[in-house]
Amino acid sequence: MADYDMIVRGGTIATASDVFRADLAIRDGLVAAVGENLGTSAEVIDASGMLILPGGVDTHVHLEQTGLGPEMCDTWESGTASAAAGGTTTVVCFAWQPKGGSLAAVAADYRIKAQKARVDYSFHLTVTDPTPEVLEVELPQLIAEGCRSVKVFMTYDGVRLDDRQVLRVLAAARRNEALVCVHAENHDLIAWLTEQLVSAELTVPKFHAYAKPMIAEREAVYRIISLAEALDVPIQIFHVSGAQSAEEIARAQARGLKVWGETCVHYLTLTAADLDRPGFEGAKYIFGPPARTEADQEALWGYLKRGVIEVISSDHSPTRFDDPKGKKFAGDPAPFNKVPNGIPGLAARLPVLFTEGVSKGRIDLQTFVRLTSTNPAKLFGLFPQKGSLAVGSDADFVIWDPEKAVTLTNALMHHGGDYTPYEGYRTQGYPVATYLRGHKVFDGETVVGAAGGGRFIAREPYPMITPLQRFPTPFNAVDGTLT
Ligand code: URP
Ligand code: ZN
Ligand code: ZN
Repeated sequence: MADYDMIVRGGTIATASDVFRADLAIRDGLVAAVGENLGTSAEVIDASGMLILPGGVDTHVHLEQTGLGPEMCDTWESGTASAAAGGTTTVVCFAWQPKGGSLAAVAADYRIKAQKARVDYSFHLTVTDPTPEVLEVELPQLIAEGCRSVKVFMTYDGVRLDDRQVLRVLAAARRNEALVCVHAENHDLIAWLTEQLVSAELTVPKFHAYAKPMIAEREAVYRIISLAEALDVPIQIFHVSGAQSAEEIARAQARGLKVWGETCVHYLTLTAADLDRPGFEGAKYIFGPPARTEADQEALWGYLKRGVIEVISSDHSPTRFDDPKGKKFAGDPAPFNKVPNGIPGLAARLPVLFTEGVSKGRIDLQTFVRLTSTNPAKLFGLFPQKGSLAVGSDADFVIWDPEKAVTLTNALMHHGGDYTPYEGYRTQGYPVATYLRGHKVFDGETVVGAAGGGRFIAREPYPMITPLQRFPTPFNAVDGTLT
């Protein structure tokens, strides 16, 4: 009998801290050994000249989700095919409470839908209506079941919470040991600017960026940091789009607060000018917050290198373009404020970031692994099962050709969408195979992972999100105690 089920031989392993030549041995879906001359194996994979990376962990993915208006064009089945094709083996998606409805019912339904997943997954809990039932019964139960992160919106009609409601959610998250993730933009400023733009008949896609300026994001980032500081609650700011928001996060971190930042590949590669493409093409680039300027991109690379922003996600939130259920929901053309927000990005995340970051010399390989796999796994309580190639971790890995040049097309995204914002983009670096718990799910061309091959990952409490025990006054407002 062979020592192992599989040995990946001849490659260079890259982790969050090191890059080294070693073979990787797998038994029962786990990493069993890392080193040289490991022994016998039922299967040997030749990875000469290739990198071996931990599977990507994408902690901001919208699949088959209700709540954002028009229909999403990715199911669990198609969306996780796209993940596998892009080298991602774990996604965290959103069980989204309908206004006035039950979060628990949606989460139960989402658990059923997710049984079609081809990669592993967990859930964030989006709270749009923090009723006593949700805060005191449903959230504690769902968090205990392993959905250890809560999402709140500070903007978007129908889903946003006011500050008092946000405080209630923060308090519930602290009591139940969950991380709070925030979409931070000033709702009233955006609403008023939108009214003004529409009154002035300035409604083509480029005005989306005028309606959602950096200042609207920066103000909300500062406000949510302040609210979280007042209640001593760890938070992650989602989709940091530019320098000013990152600066607020850096200031919070300098004060010792548990505030983390996420950005997305599109904020490093697209700008507001993409909204001004001819005709209605700009609608393909409508997402919130919008892409900013090249100066913001440069600043974001700096914040990534300094570790102020620790996670790069896709915010994969796809609607089709040429479709009355998608970007053309309100017509063709439609005013920017009627176009659904969101773009696809799951499959493109790692190849585009590798090209822009590693191949162009902006970040090293370890930083790439940290930002796209290890850090999100740590921050969301998935580590070391995910985000690692240490002995005992799940054998989720990508065989990555660091030189492979691919011209991206929509077909290569393996998703349900009819476009990619990266059509025609030339990569330097691409996954040639993706493995989930030792099973191949992408062979470099075809997604071979079965629908239903993914597993739900329950997340236990973890020290990273333990509060600081630091309140602005001696009053612990969450527990109602005086210290
Ligand atoms: O435009 C975006 N980002 N759509 C997805 C929902 C969200 O805000 O994360
Ligand atoms: Zn958001
Ligand atoms: Zn999102």
